[in-house]
Amino acid sequence: MSDIRQVAVVGAGTMGHGIAYVAALSGYVVRLTDALPAALDKARVQVAANLKGGMERGKLKEADRTRVEGNLSCEPNLARAVAGADLVVEAVVENLEVKQALFRDLARLVPSHAILATNTSSLPVGRLAQAVAPASRVIGMHFFNPVHLMPLVEIVVHAGTDDATREAVLGVARRMGKEPIVVKDSPGFASSRLGVVLGLEAMRMVEQGVASVEDIDKAMELGYRHPMGPLKLTDLVGLDVRLAIAEILHGELGGEQYRPPQILRKKVAAGELGKKSGQGFYKW
Ligand SMILES: NC(=O)c1ccc[n+]([C@@H]2O[C@H](COP(=O)([O-])OP(=O)(O)OC[C@H]3O[C@@H](n4cnc5c(N)ncnc54)[C@H](O)[C@@H]3O)[C@@H](O)[C@H]2O)c1
Repeated sequence: MSDIRQVAVVGAGTMGHGIAYVAALSGYVVRLTDALPAALDKARVQVAANLKGGMERGKLKEADRTRVEGNLSCEPNLARAVAGADLVVEAVVENLEVKQALFRDLARLVPSHAILATNTSSLPVGRLAQAVAPASRVIGMHFFNPVHLMPLVEIVVHAGTDDATREAVLGVARRMGKEPIVVKDSPGFASSRLGVVLGLEAMRMVEQGVASVEDIDKAMELGYRHPMGPLKLTDLVGLDVRLAIAEILHGELGGEQYRPPQILRKKVAAGELGKKSGQGFYKW
């Protein structure tokens, strides 16, 4: 299905609102949905803030704002949100059971030609595909945070993904102004598998008092030209999201480098989830 016009985004959190925003900006008709009505309210505010920021920086014109406002709608009802969709991008919590249950519902609710894409950072796409017949239309579209600024999209192809599905989402990613890479369905794909190791090791260094949070980040920013240190990045990603990814990768790949450090577990238990909660390794 190469002629994708209507996109549904399920999950309106950190990633979902950003994917919906960029898709609408790129000319797709987008419906954004979430199990929590409050998440949709927050997403509306965040999309408005993205537009305002883009206008202020001179990146967007009035026509862009009109296009986003005309193309993007929030729809709390899942069935109504995905009806008529050519592509569904799932961006709900990083939990296999939750995503599998959602994919079973989606398989019932979407048109038979619709492509089902997951934004998972670490879960096997093939296991989500088991909930869908035919599984050939299931694929990973792994966007990065913040979606409107980050150029990479990992296109994750499981053993049963067909070529038409892969080509269609490559086209969508490019139309969204992104640089897609194609990755085999293996734990953590290319990006999370490497990025999580750096983030977890930085946390172990904080635990061991090797240097301050700020200086560990500076080591990577100034010494390795990373645009942002691994601890600040963890704050942006969300500590709960990083913990979930680390647990999945530790379970799937087994290496000690993926074992979540105590400091991460403690902060998540204390509700210190990073930027979204106002406190993580930094105060926001
Ligand atoms: N945060 C990041 O930097 C980042 C980057 C790339 C990929 N991801 C992946 O994107 C996905 C979403 O992450 P996030 O950071 O946006 O999470 P988030 O917690 O900010 O948002 C998740 C949203 O999903 C909603 N939700 C949960 N279950 C639902 C269901 N069954 N139906 C509808 N809505 C449901 C929640 O209410 C919440 O609003 C995860 O798979 C994560 O691994 C995250």
